[in-house]
Amino acid sequence: MNILVLGSGGREHALCWKLAQSAAIAEHGGKLYVAPGNPGMAECAELVTLDATDHAAVVAFCADKAIGLVVIGPEAPLVDGLADSLRAADVPVFGPSKAAAQLEGSKNFTKAMCDRAGIPTAGYVHCTSLEQAKDALSTFAPPFVLKADGLAAGKGVVIAENEDHAREALEDMFGGKFGSAGAEVVIEEFMAGEEASFFALTDGETVIPFGTAQDHKRVGDGDTGPNTGGMGAYSPARVLTDALVAETLERIVFPTVRQLRKDGMPYVGVLYAGLMLTDEGVKLVEYNCRFGDPECQVLMMRLQSDLADYMLACAKGTLTDLPPAEFAEDTAMTVVMAANGYPGTPEKGGAIDLRDAEADGAKVFHAGTRMDGEKLVANGGRVLNVTATGTDTKAAQAAAYRAVKAVDFPSGFYRNDIGWREIEREG
Ligand code: AMP
Ligand code: GLY
Repeated sequence: MNILVLGSGGREHALCWKLAQSAAIAEHGGKLYVAPGNPGMAECAELVTLDATDHAAVVAFCADKAIGLVVIGPEAPLVDGLADSLRAADVPVFGPSKAAAQLEGSKNFTKAMCDRAGIPTAGYVHCTSLEQAKDALSTFAPPFVLKADGLAAGKGVVIAENEDHAREALEDMFGGKFGSAGAEVVIEEFMAGEEASFFALTDGETVIPFGTAQDHKRVGDGDTGPNTGGMGAYSPARVLTDALVAETLERIVFPTVRQLRKDGMPYVGVLYAGLMLTDEGVKLVEYNCRFGDPECQVLMMRLQSDLADYMLACAKGTLTDLPPAEFAEDTAMTVVMAANGYPGTPEKGGAIDLRDAEADGAKVFHAGTRMDGEKLVANGGRVLNVTATGTDTKAAQAAAYRAVKAVDFPSGFYRNDIGWREIEREG
């Protein structure tokens, strides 16, 4: 079977790396393509030029190359309905329809779905005008959680400490700071607790748990400084005990899959549930309709099962035929090496020498790199995801940082404390 992966980041490098080990590719002569990919992926896939917004071109490529599975990495093409265009052309695709991808594409869609399905989440008000939003503030207590409704590249959430800041943030949102994403806003109750991520695969009916992770969103050590797309992650998140995973499935994930099926938009692909572990139990913070980045990198390091088999079963509605997915007991950790300036304007073009970073079994996933002639250079905010495993978080951390220190990337930086919370718990 030939497989096409769409995307260009560390998440897609990790997916390609794992898919290349699948029997379909490694044993049965299938070909793995990635569009547009990045230099790191050239080790395991053929890089092709394809514009994911040109659905007809993607469909034509699939016909031309006899693609038996398309894996859509990022959220934007999913929210844009690429999966629907492929399905209409009978191409098996791992990823939700445009309708189901609203789980990530619209905060209000998800909150309303939670209401219909009785899923525990923060109370909220959906606002379609600045006046309405300002009036609604009085029904909440600080800190105020304000969310642009649409996709805003992970930047559409503001937690305002007081009412003045909340008003300013609302003015920004309705004033167009996040483009059309902010034309509608959701104001939420603040939930206190620890956050963790839970992943599940589904074909719209059957659900298979697919691992847990925690990431570090702030740019600086000690969880300080501005938010980023994630500076590092580890899996499993041991704070999600078996009991909490069972609660998450029963109260959040199963009801979601059931509700979307009932609403005529069965969900196919990976459900990434952002969870808050509150005193009142597990609550949903948000859904993403794709793997986390860099959470995917640590999941793939631990995955023992054949990834293509599971993705194809999601695409074909045959997940019920597969056993539970297997993950190594080991902890995996990824440390993001970012370009100076990130999450503001990152310095581009900085030289990278990976040297022998992978010598001890670590894996360097490329997130934002390109070739400048023969030389590898930085080409984005998050540049490399240096990933390693160990018997516990401490050992995984030691291995990951050994590999980080082997990389020569003078115009980059990284956090020194990925995994601190878990290591504190391990004692
Ligand atoms: P989201 O994009 O919805 O995940 O929000 C981004 C981040 O904002 C989350 O990872 C949380 O840290 C925080 N957040 C979002 N909603 C809430 C909430 N209702 N209460 C507390 N923190 C929240
Ligand atoms: N690392 C957070 C995300 O992928 O949304």
